[in-house]
Amino acid sequence: MTHFLDINKTDAADLRAIIDQAAAMKQARAGRPRGAPDDEQPLAGRMVALIFEKPSTRTRVSFDAGARQMGAQTMVLSGADMQLGHGETIADTARVLSRYVDLIMMRTFEEDTILEMAEHASVPVINGLTNRTHPCQIMADILTYEEHRGPIRGRRVVWCGDGNNVCASFIHAAGQFGFDLTFTGPAQLDPEQVFVDEARAKGADIRIERDAARAVEGADLVVTDTWVSMHDSQSSRERRHNLLRPYQVNDDLMSHAAPDALFMHCLPAHRDEEVTSSVMDGPQSVIFDEAENRLHAQKAIMRYCLVV
Ligand code: CP
Repeated sequence: MTHFLDINKTDAADLRAIIDQAAAMKQARAGRPRGAPDDEQPLAGRMVALIFEKPSTRTRVSFDAGARQMGAQTMVLSGADMQLGHGETIADTARVLSRYVDLIMMRTFEEDTILEMAEHASVPVINGLTNRTHPCQIMADILTYEEHRGPIRGRRVVWCGDGNNVCASFIHAAGQFGFDLTFTGPAQLDPEQVFVDEARAKGADIRIERDAARAVEGADLVVTDTWVSMHDSQSSRERRHNLLRPYQVNDDLMSHAAPDALFMHCLPAHRDEEVTSSVMDGPQSVIFDEAENRLHAQKAIMRYCLVV
């Protein structure tokens, strides 16, 4: 069974092969209408279930479009509308779905939910975001960086703001793809130490720097994310904003990065909160390439999971 549960749970060689496959598949369909099928149909005859217990635009549409381009049929399911939302266990849901579909992608709250789904499913399971990690996003980000600037190995990424689930997967990727990462944000919102320790053990230089300008000095890539994630309470909003305001990515902060540094944000963004519109829409921003590359990276992930 080949699941895609987290970047640190997939072999580094497989991760590299997925990125290379994504780039090749993107190139192969360049210029075609979005609904045109790929020449190769590796998912022909396959049924894919896409389960969402949280809102989504990019993940929902890119998985659905990508699976169809590769020949699969898809069904998008809301967790709230399933018996899952009314007390049926994850394990039983996994066993049942495995009788109907060939692949399950799930966006959920707790990491344990996706792990339980994977343990009891007899088909591959893909993590489409949990409160703890967001591996598909970072695969798209690696693809995007390398399209623009070549190999990410040895580069320096700076994560600004909240040490959230997307940050966690970036730290996983630092260990697996061999780049260095500096986290700059308030101590109250540091990434989990276990992520940092694991990436360091794999040889990545992971630094924590409280001063945002110092952190960004000479960076190859500057990344941020929303200050209040889907799983954060709205009552924490004011406290988070106060803590994170010094870490806004703006033109002044970007001026400390390398002249050819890129800016990324997984979106959705809150313009002029975590990042100014001038940076989002500026020449260093690759945010919409990043969003597009969710499609291509996830196609390669689905293909990898189905070993085709
Ligand atoms: N970046 C991301 O996962 O976007 P959605 O929440 O819209 O899927």
